[in-house]
Amino acid sequence: MACPNFKLNTGATIPAVGLGTWQSKPGEVKDAVEYALKEVGYRHIDCAWAYGNEKEVGAGIRASGVPRSDIFITSKLWCTYHRKVEECLDQTLANLGVDYLDLYLVHWPVPLNPNGNDPVFPKLPDGTRDIDWEWSIKDTWKQMEAVYKKGKVKAIGVSNFSEKKLEEMLPTAEIVPAVNQLEIHLWNPQHKLMDYLKSKGILPQAYSPLGSTNSPMLKDDDVTQYAQKYGLQPADILLGYLIAKDIVALPKSVTAARIKSNFTGALAAASKLTNEDITKLDAVAPGGKQKRFIAPPWGVDLGFDNWP
Ligand code: A2P
Repeated sequence: MACPNFKLNTGATIPAVGLGTWQSKPGEVKDAVEYALKEVGYRHIDCAWAYGNEKEVGAGIRASGVPRSDIFITSKLWCTYHRKVEECLDQTLANLGVDYLDLYLVHWPVPLNPNGNDPVFPKLPDGTRDIDWEWSIKDTWKQMEAVYKKGKVKAIGVSNFSEKKLEEMLPTAEIVPAVNQLEIHLWNPQHKLMDYLKSKGILPQAYSPLGSTNSPMLKDDDVTQYAQKYGLQPADILLGYLIAKDIVALPKSVTAARIKSNFTGALAAASKLTNEDITKLDAVAPGGKQKRFIAPPWGVDLGFDNWP
């Protein structure tokens, strides 16, 4: 089954399902990427500098034999590089072994001290994160626009930006972000933020669409009922729900059978779920099941509803 595409505000297309690589360990992720591209038909891989596995992801891409131009590759600028966007991007390009990205995202709206006590998560003596208070995300975005204009990336966007954080940046932005990648799933649907993104022409992408490791969402009553009704797996319903709502789904797996079923099952579920089903699923979180699984202790208010 061919994967449907969504459209970015650049005019480019992006496959509705991509393979997530967060927490995919070295020693596992090369095979996962190779299998997804070569055997299943994925054409979209979601990466990040901070995942620490981009060299292996690149090896998997090359081993697949699928031409670079057929694959949509995303990566993300890490927090300690907000002052030096191109430097982080160049490391990612070298690690992946590619000469451009299809999409480059600001990973979090939190600049961290680039000269702190750790290159990834610098901390202050009291154990809190060492934030670069002097730096503004408006200036990070200017540097993102510069690498876009240079042609090193075909689109730029953000990740983990609330409406409040976008509103801090948009007044001085020359280019509207193409994408906002967020924790979006049945239990954290962020309906209000989705409406806001739509009004701005920013496409939402869902990370942890299954609820991350050992997810209780796979046992959700409504999900299991729809899975039975349509002869699919719970994971398929969770992913199909997002795609049917025009949200890019980025399920992570390093298990061949799941890599395959997440792709085919998501597309099957997206085509089977009716508008009535979607309305019912939209009501699950507001009905009392709201839950966010990923909430790092940044020590700053990111402006999200339901941040624990
Ligand atoms: P694994 O990589 O060992 O296959 P998310 O994409 O929401 O972050 O979820 C990723 C987690 O869900 C990983 O632990 C992954 O395990 C697991 N997972 C991925 N696909 C499925 C599936 N179809 N059914 C159950 N668990 C899955």
